[in-house]
Amino acid sequence: MKIRKAIFPAAGFGTRFLPVTKSQPKEMLPIVDKPVIQYLVEEAVASGIEEIIIVTGRGKRAIEDHFDFSYELEQTLVERGKRSLLAEVRKIPQMAKFVYVRQPFPLGDGDAIFQAAELIGDEPCAVMFGDDLVDSKVPALKQLISIYEKYGAPVVALQRVEKKEVERYGIVECLPASKKSTANSRLHHIKSLVEKPTPAKAPSNLAVIGKYIITPEIMQALQKVKKGRDGEIRLIDALKLIAGEHELLGYEIEGTRYDTGDKLGFLKATIDYALKRKDLGPELRKHLKNL
Ligand code: G1P
Repeated sequence: MKIRKAIFPAAGFGTRFLPVTKSQPKEMLPIVDKPVIQYLVEEAVASGIEEIIIVTGRGKRAIEDHFDFSYELEQTLVERGKRSLLAEVRKIPQMAKFVYVRQPFPLGDGDAIFQAAELIGDEPCAVMFGDDLVDSKVPALKQLISIYEKYGAPVVALQRVEKKEVERYGIVECLPASKKSTANSRLHHIKSLVEKPTPAKAPSNLAVIGKYIITPEIMQALQKVKKGRDGEIRLIDALKLIAGEHELLGYEIEGTRYDTGDKLGFLKATIDYALKRKDLGPELRKHLKNL
C-alpha cells in the first residue's frame, strides 16, 4: 500500500529551548530563514507524501498560519515586484494537503500520534518527529519508504551514535543478521527497543531517529500501551509491543543528521545550512575562519 500520509507530532512544549519557546512553537524556529517544520514537510513531500497531518496544541497557531495562504503579504509582494519572494511564499501552502488535529493534554508522542488515528484509517503512514533534520541526497523519509515498499513491514530510522550518547535516544536490539539483511548492511531486524538506556545497559549503539513508517497494528498497539512513569504514552512502547509478534525493521539512514531540538545541534544545523548557501556561505566561511 502506498504511503500517502504523514503525522507530525507538534504539540510539545519545547522545554529544551526555553525561553524562546514560551510563546512560540519550537517547530517554527528557523534554520537560516526557514522553520524547521518546513524542511520536514519538504522532505515528506519529496518522498511522495500527499497529506500532512500536524498534531498541534495550544500556542501552536503560528504553524497553521505558516502553511496557509497569506493574502495581505502576497498582495504586498506583488505590489513591490518581489517576484522570487512571492514564489517562495506561494509555494508553501500548495506543497500538500494540510490537516490539523489537536492534542488536548500533554500525554506523550504516542498519544499525539493516536489523535490522528481516524484521519489515517486502515493505512500505513509516516511519522516525523519535529527535531530530526537529515541532509541527504535521497530524502531520509524516502529511504524508509523504499524499505517499506520492498519488505512490507514497519520501519524505524536509525543512526549509529557514540556509546556515551545512547542515553539520549531509543536504542534497538537487533536480531542476528539474516540472509535478507546481509544483502543490505544498513537494514536491521529489530528484536526489541530500550528508551534512553545507560551506556552499560544499551543493547547496541543504533539509535532511533524521529522518522518512522508505522502500520495499523502499531496504531492499535498505541491503545494498549501503558502510561510511563511520567504519565506519557510513547510510540517506542507500541513498537516494543509489536516487535515480538510482527516484523519490525530498522534502517540506517544515509545522510548527515542534526538534532535541532538540542541547542548545539540547532547551531550546527544553522551553520552547515548557511555555509551551503550561495548568498551567505562565502562570507560566513570567512567570518568563521577569522574567529
Ligand atoms: C524520541 C523517541 C526516541 C528517539 C528520539 C529521536 O525521544 O522517544 O526513541 O530516539 O525521539 O529524536 P525524545 O527526543 O522525544 O525524548
